[in-house]
Amino acid sequence: MKLSVSGRTAATGAVAIGVSAVMLLTGGSIAGAAPAPVAAAPDIPVANVKAHLAQLQSIATANGGNRAHGRAGYKASLDYVKAKLDAAGFTTTVQQFTSSGRTGYNLVADWPGGDTNQVVMAGSHLDSVTAGAGINDNGSGSAAILETALAVSRAGYQPTKHLRFAWWGAEELGMVGSRYYVNNLSTANRSKISGYLNFDMIGSPNPGYFVYDDDPAIEKTFKDYFTGLGISTEPETEGDGRSDHAPFENAGVPVGGLFSGADYVKTAAQAAKWGGTSGQAFDRCYHSSCDTSANINDTALDRNSDAVAHAVWELSS
Ligand code: TRP
Ligand code: CA
Ligand code: ZN
Repeated sequence: MKLSVSGRTAATGAVAIGVSAVMLLTGGSIAGAAPAPVAAAPDIPVANVKAHLAQLQSIATANGGNRAHGRAGYKASLDYVKAKLDAAGFTTTVQQFTSSGRTGYNLVADWPGGDTNQVVMAGSHLDSVTAGAGINDNGSGSAAILETALAVSRAGYQPTKHLRFAWWGAEELGMVGSRYYVNNLSTANRSKISGYLNFDMIGSPNPGYFVYDDDPAIEKTFKDYFTGLGISTEPETEGDGRSDHAPFENAGVPVGGLFSGADYVKTAAQAAKWGGTSGQAFDRCYHSSCDTSANINDTALDRNSDAVAHAVWELSS
């Protein structure tokens, strides 16, 4: 009897009634059932993720071509994401800091409920470099975690642990926003973070499938997802210290994440298993003006967005 997916989705009456009907038909008994299995994460609609990217592109275009720290395009990006989260029932906080003489902002969104002594965080930097719109770096991660957060709300997901999403400012200046956040957590609050998941570049146009090889349990959660799709991954080792997971890792928080590649060149062996073009960078537009909404591989964005949701559900259950 296949009841597993209904385990914790009983927030929706329709699902609960369905379960009861199946129980009656099969003579099953809810009282005698095993502990409720983890609810499956929903499929994240890649069209929704792309719609967020189109908005971020429009914001850049309207603000001098970028969404960089201290520029109007950054704040407009933050306002866009915050409005979506507020409307979906998140508790949002804007954290202000100063870097290079300009004001920067982190956006933190808490999903009400869950055990606040066990916090699962997912984060992405929302700033671009000044050279371009930063749609793969890092509109892609920002849009994927935004759509995952909205999916949490749509599902009425009530995880055991507490869920928190974050959009970091000034990553491109050296992970300034995320470091500011970690440095300003009390020791007690830092120790309540059971895991931090980082998503920085997950829609690269000539994509690879890299999984951070940090915390083994988090890494396994991502790898299992890709195994289920029949896609082999490689451990992400290049990025240690190169994105917003670094301040968390340095503070002793278990970290993990996904990466589809930046300026490194795809090898023949990688092209053989992942497709795309060998001898060419994973993202030829990395940190340049051509990192626009055309600089996205939809398949990679779709798979990685679904993997984000899978990990968020699984690790917070
Ligand atoms: N924002 C990162 C940077 O500019 C992008 C990046 C490059 C990255 N290599 C990485 C992110 C490896 C994660 C892992 O450096
Ligand atoms: Ca999907
Ligand atoms: Zn980045």
